[in-house]
Amino acid sequence: MSALPSPALAYRLEAARAVVHDAARMAMAMRPPPGGPQGELKSAQDWLTETDGAVEAFIAQRMQALFPEDGFQGEEGGVSRTGSLRWVVDPIDGTSNYARGRCRWCVSLGLMDGDEPVAGVIDAPALGEVYTALRGYGAFLNGKPIKASPIKDPARSMIEMGWSGRVPKSVFMDKMDAIMELGTMPRSGGCGALALADVASGRLDGYIEIVINLWDVAAALPLLAEAGAVVSPFLQNGGLTGGATILAANPHIGPVLAKAVSIPLE
Ligand code: IPD
Repeated sequence: MSALPSPALAYRLEAARAVVHDAARMAMAMRPPPGGPQGELKSAQDWLTETDGAVEAFIAQRMQALFPEDGFQGEEGGVSRTGSLRWVVDPIDGTSNYARGRCRWCVSLGLMDGDEPVAGVIDAPALGEVYTALRGYGAFLNGKPIKASPIKDPARSMIEMGWSGRVPKSVFMDKMDAIMELGTMPRSGGCGALALADVASGRLDGYIEIVINLWDVAAALPLLAEAGAVVSPFLQNGGLTGGATILAANPHIGPVLAKAVSIPLE
C-alpha cells in the first residue's frame, strides 16, 4: 500500500459517497409501505419500481456534472457514457425486497478503471449501513474497517446463495444441496450486493450466485478484495459483458465451498 491514494480516486470515492447518500434518501422517501409488491415485472420474479429509474437518472446526472470525462453504466439504462474510469450503478439492488417495503436493499455504485474495480459505495439506508472501499486502502462499514470471517469449519459456517429466474430450478437445487451437504447454514436474502458485503464484513462465510450481473457486484468487488475474501474470476468469466457466476468466501471456507459447488476460484 502506498502512503496516499491517488487524489483523483480518493476524490471520486468521497463524491460517490455523497451522491449515493442523497440517492439512498430519495429511495427511502419513495419506498412502498409493507405489503404486496408495488412495481412491474421485467421478467419472471424480476421486479422494477419507479424508484429504480429515478435513482439511476439522479446518479447519472450528478456523476456527469461532477466527472464529465467518466463513463457511466446503469442496470436500467445500460452504457450511456464511455471513459477510462467508469461508474457502474445498481440503483436499487434487492428490488424484490424494496417493492414490498422490506429493509434489505441498497444503492450500489462501483468505479472501474478499465476492467479493474477500484472503488465502491453500498448504501443501505433502511439498515443504516454504508460500505465503502478503495483498492489498496481498506474496506469499511460505517467508517470502521471490516474483514472476512475467520470461520474454518463448514459445520459452523453460514453460506448464502442468490436466486433469480435466470437459473433453472434443478441447477439451483443441486448447488444448494451441495452447500447443505457441507453442514453449512443456508440463506437467500434477495440482495446480491449486500450478501457480498456480508462476506466482506464476516457476517457470511460465503456467497454464490450462478448468474449475476456486473451492476450487482461492481461496488462489492473492491470491498471483498480489501477485506481479504477470495472471489472466483467473475470478470474474466464473462461478467464484464453479461451474466456470470460468482463465488465469494472467507479464505478458509472458499476452497472447500468452491470444490463442493464446482465453481473454481481460479
Ligand atoms: C437482483 C438481486 C438478487 C440477485 C439477482 C439480482 P435487483 O438485483 O441482487 O439478490 O439474486 O441476481 O438481479 O434486480 O434487485 O437489482
